[in-house]
Amino acid sequence: MYNSKITGLGYYVPDHVVTNDDLSKVMDTSDAWIQERTGIKERRHVNSEADSTTSMGVKAAEIAIERAGIDKEDIDFIIFATLSPDYYFPGPGVLVQRDLEIKTVGALDVRNQCSGFVYGLSVADQYVKSGMYNNILVIGSEVHSRGLDMTTRGRAVSVIFGDGAGAAVVSREDDTSRGILSSHLHSEGQYAEELAVTAPGMGKRWVTDILKDNDPNDESYYPYMNGQFVFKNAVVRFSEVILEGLQKNGLQASDIDLLIPHQANLRISQFVQKKFGLRDDQVYNNITHYGNTTAASIPIALTEAWEKGKVKDGDLVVLAAFGSGFTWGSVIIRW
Ligand code: UT7
Repeated sequence: MYNSKITGLGYYVPDHVVTNDDLSKVMDTSDAWIQERTGIKERRHVNSEADSTTSMGVKAAEIAIERAGIDKEDIDFIIFATLSPDYYFPGPGVLVQRDLEIKTVGALDVRNQCSGFVYGLSVADQYVKSGMYNNILVIGSEVHSRGLDMTTRGRAVSVIFGDGAGAAVVSREDDTSRGILSSHLHSEGQYAEELAVTAPGMGKRWVTDILKDNDPNDESYYPYMNGQFVFKNAVVRFSEVILEGLQKNGLQASDIDLLIPHQANLRISQFVQKKFGLRDDQVYNNITHYGNTTAASIPIALTEAWEKGKVKDGDLVVLAAFGSGFTWGSVIIRW
């Protein structure tokens, strides 16, 4: 049995900054409402056809691989988490294998929305710990902006989400006191439709009917979120799964050097911070600048925090996520 650790991190966000005032020009919203309810000031939207979920993931991955000090030929498995893939199928994992010109390693697509990166990291951790693989590339990437209802009808969702990508290289670590200590995953499918895009699924409709209808008022292609219900569940599940991770390792909240919560809403992060009695310097948030980037939010935040020197050798780093599914999870890391 080996241990696994994150050896390289990278992120990429599109250049195009969309402020709250920009949004208020196309829908009935305001900077004051968005900041007060979510903490978001601006987010990035792709504005070039060259930017896609895969291409952004590739850019983040190239940085992570370089920082890991390995060659891309050393990657022996790819895990890609997204809810906004370039194609209905195949998923972006194989597109990364192609675009990075990596040898024909396995590529796994993870469909766990906001928890996607945490799920992906957990899978990578198990493969490395078992000795099956040495270096695994884990990517979280999203292009939300092309799929949002940018009218007043969609404002409760559209103001929250942003585009971007983050990546990590997970490698074998022989020192068992360092690296990923444990991961904790959960789901509660009875609330699947409380935060969902229900089209273009094959659950109820024939593709021929969808094409025939071609209905511009069909909202099933846009994300739906029962905001308050999701919020209430989020604060409970975040707290539970962080506690579960700490208890599993005989740790306490005061042992946390840095908590990186999925950037769902600044108010959710602040609730969790207060619940565990953490200081501001023990929690990293960047939702103010990027909005909620779903599977990309944790790797972007982790990379930024690492670049700013906030993640140091020996630190206890806790990642936690909650989102559509519902799914939630945490990863406890001794850096
Ligand atoms: O990442 C995955 C997990 N996601 C989350 O955890 C998100 C959880 N939910 C939330 O973050 C919050 O529920 C939202 C930010 C989505 C919404 O905040 P809220 O405080 O729950 O607002 P609300 O949905 O209760 O809406 C309050 C009012 C409504 O108007 P009325 O009915 O009171 O007249 C909405 O129509 O705000 C209105 N509203 C807006 N007004 C201006 C909704 N969206 C907007 C908007 N601009 N963008």
